[in-house]
Order: sequence, then structure tokens, then C-alpha cells
Amino acid sequence: MVGLGTGSTAAYTIEALGEAVEQGLDIQGIPTSYQSRALALDAGIPLTALDAVDGVDIAIDGADQVVAGQLIKGGGAAHAQEKIVDAAADRFVVVVDDGKLADQLTHPVPVEVVPEARPTAMAAIRDLGGEPTLRDAGRKDGPVITQHGNVVLDVDFGRIADPAALGASLASVPGVLEHGLFVDLADEIVVGGPNGVRVLET
Ligand code: A5P
Repeated sequence: MVGLGTGSTAAYTIEALGEAVEQGLDIQGIPTSYQSRALALDAGIPLTALDAVDGVDIAIDGADQVVAGQLIKGGGAAHAQEKIVDAAADRFVVVVDDGKLADQLTHPVPVEVVPEARPTAMAAIRDLGGEPTLRDAGRKDGPVITQHGNVVLDVDFGRIADPAALGASLASVPGVLEHGLFVDLADEIVVGGPNGVRVLET
């Protein structure tokens, strides 16, 4: 069982897995979003779901920013499903280009919120020191709606000194389904750059 991440980097993994399946690799994929499901179907990867299996051997996913193995994810609004699948995996491998590596977490943290709780959650998040912005789908489409029917706030916290503490605080805000801080979840970070690929163990 292979967790299939979301985003432009994870898409390469799905494509490569599809080629391996064509060569005889025997796997079943567990998608983390509509996007990864569609890519996997196109690539010919047999699919299943987390609640239909006993466990997940490995999950492979991208990230928006990486600092010493801690991640910010959710640029594609899929972080809730990603965290469920990635955390369930025996091994969680992150694939990024070296532009995603940083010294400190500074990327805005995506926070998925039940729509009705948006104003109260925004106020609570401001009390935590964050500046939330409702993610918009652009043009005339209104806010981005997640696969769970919720909205996403991108929250600027400046430099995040203690991601574990901030993650716990965000998780305790009523109406927050999930936030994009992935603390102590990754087992391996695979980093691609102009000089090739290196692997960082966490
Ligand atoms: C999806 O919600 C995200 O967590 C993505 O995995 C993350 O934004 C990385 O995407 P890219 O590989 O497209 O940068």
C-alpha cells in the first residue's frame, strides 16, 4: 500500500510509479486528493482507500517548506487528507527541490476551517500571533473549498520558532479541522537540485 501525495512534485512520483506498475510492480495506491487520484488513474495504478486496508507501507509526498525534517504542507489544500495518510504510513518519504529547504519555517501555514467557524477561528488565530488570509480560488469562484467541504486560511506567523507548540495551539482552535504543520512525521527527505539528488534522514 502506497500513499500518493498531492502537488506538482508528488505528481512525478505518481507518474514513475505508474511506469513501474506497467513493468509489473504490484502495489495499490491510496490517493490524498482528487488530483492525485486522477493522476494515479491515468497512470494505471490500482487504487484503494485508507479505511479499506490494514496499513500503509509507505507514503510519498511533497512539501512547501522543510526545516530539519519539519514541514509545512497544504499549498494544494490537501493537507488534512495528506496528514491522515502520511501519518498512517510505516515510512513517510518527502520529495522536494532544494528551494524548499530553509533555516526556519516562515511559509504561511494553511489551516483548514469549517466554513461557519471562519470568523471565530480567524480571531483565535490572531490571538495566537498569526495573520490569516482566506484562500481564494481566484476569478469569480470564491473561496477554495477542500475535499472535506471546508475553507482554508493561509496564516502568516513570521518565523515559527516552535512548530510543535504552534501546531498544538492551532489544533485546539474550535472549527479547525487540520493545519499544515507536519511535526516529526517525515522519515526521509529526498532533495533534488542542480547537483543531483541527496537524501536527508530525519
Ligand atoms: C498539497 O496540499 C501540498 O501539501 C503539496 O504537497 C505541497 O504544496 C507541495 O506541492 P508542490 O510539489 O507542487 O510544490
